[in-house]
Amino acid sequence: MKTKEPFDMTNEEFTRYGDQILEWLAAYFDHPERFPVSGAILPGSIKKTLPSPAPSKPEPMAQIIKDFETLIVPGLTHWNHPSFMAYFAITSSRPAILGELLSAGINVNAMLWKASPAATELEEVVLGWLRRALDLPAGFQGTIHDTASTSSLVAMAAARESLQLQVREKGMTGRDLKPLTIYTSEHAHSSIERAAIVLGIGQENVRKIAVDHEFRMDAGELRNMLQRDKRDGYIPCCIVATVGTTSTTSVDPVPEIARLSKEFGVWLHVDGAYGGIAGLVPEMRWVLDGCAEADSIVMNPHKWLFVPIDCSVLYCRRPEILRRAFTLVPEYLRTEEEQVTNYMDYGIALGRRFRALKLWMVFRYFGLEGIVDRLRYHISLAQKFQSWVRSHPSFEVMAPAPFSVVCFRFLPQHWQKRSEVMMELINQLNLELLENVNRSGELFLSHTKLNGRVVLRLAIGNLRTAEEHVQKAWEVIRRNSESLEKRVGK
Ligand SMILES: Cc1ncc(COP(=O)(O)O)c(C=O)c1O
Repeated sequence: MKTKEPFDMTNEEFTRYGDQILEWLAAYFDHPERFPVSGAILPGSIKKTLPSPAPSKPEPMAQIIKDFETLIVPGLTHWNHPSFMAYFAITSSRPAILGELLSAGINVNAMLWKASPAATELEEVVLGWLRRALDLPAGFQGTIHDTASTSSLVAMAAARESLQLQVREKGMTGRDLKPLTIYTSEHAHSSIERAAIVLGIGQENVRKIAVDHEFRMDAGELRNMLQRDKRDGYIPCCIVATVGTTSTTSVDPVPEIARLSKEFGVWLHVDGAYGGIAGLVPEMRWVLDGCAEADSIVMNPHKWLFVPIDCSVLYCRRPEILRRAFTLVPEYLRTEEEQVTNYMDYGIALGRRFRALKLWMVFRYFGLEGIVDRLRYHISLAQKFQSWVRSHPSFEVMAPAPFSVVCFRFLPQHWQKRSEVMMELINQLNLELLENVNRSGELFLSHTKLNGRVVLRLAIGNLRTAEEHVQKAWEVIRRNSESLEKRVGK
């Protein structure tokens, strides 16, 4: 049989188009503002422009890159735009992107130590750096997962395993026991409830604990629920506290919650997906108070540590329980080495990308001081924005802003006396303001609802966001609110 040509791009093409793509990205990073932060895209409109079915013959790379620019880019919401201030505004950074590129290039699988020793050992080293920088206990073992949703699911599975109910062997059914229960605040991220669904615990067994006036879990209410459930024969499985809730970035009282977790013998998992990283900043270290007492904690470098999606870190105090929950070694994956970490034993996925590489790049390129400086800057920008909102007669701040997210709403002055009875109208008006601001392509915000009130969220987390962009955001918001205020009458 004739030898076949290698089935890949030539190195000459690879470097030529690689250079072209890097140059495109470099220009993009220099001027992301040349694109509207989000476009007015109709659902399905992108799909219509893309060929179907798949090409049967090879196509030139130059054409593929051109189509990327003309068909894909116009349909993007630009998370790299300095005026992207929705959800949790996240960005990558150039060194992390290079780390990602290398990781894709070498394409090792970090499932077993033996499968690529450096990938495993770098993960251990980098997560050790992060742990020490956060002053978390030395016994906390870290694992990188794709997302916080996975990290929390894995932590909650370990919590279930810690109960020694033989769920691993016998499953969740057939036990003559009341259900397992999860405790989290009504402001917890939906991933906690979803994990309860996946683990067979069930939504009805997620106790959503009320929050105080600053949207923090009410520890007294948590105690009452734990007592009631224990009395009624339920099996408390896991308490999930949040450091930086999604809607308002509130911080649950972890020290008090940790005491309850000890008293009732229930696993404490902390969701610090967004807020945990802020603990790197010395004056923000308080956000991790009590976390050293937790059984597990998740934080997402892909949210606020300048690495591209995906990268979520789960630390666990008793990794042997995590291992007990997940380890399953078929013959074809058995290895001889002892004293090594086989990361496949600590989670769901077997195939694991070499994500530690991009985190390593960030730590080394910026240094801890550089990272802290940038986090501090983001927080200071949000505080500035908050002070502008506070001093405007037609706006109000709706929640404390300990990090870099500000929750606020537009409240026309002459509606202020009747704001309770007019809540629905005010809600409508704020949704309209949001729609107008976002449609402008100058700024992208998101919203939430607090105690029935629609609230706009301005989130800062983008490496390219500077004070001038926050000033411009405030101008765009005010300009759009003024035309609405005129319409509803002064
Ligand atoms: C507090 C919190 N936890 C978990 C998540 C889920 O994160 P991921 O997208 O990594 O699953 C989010 C997402 O914003 C979050 O805000």
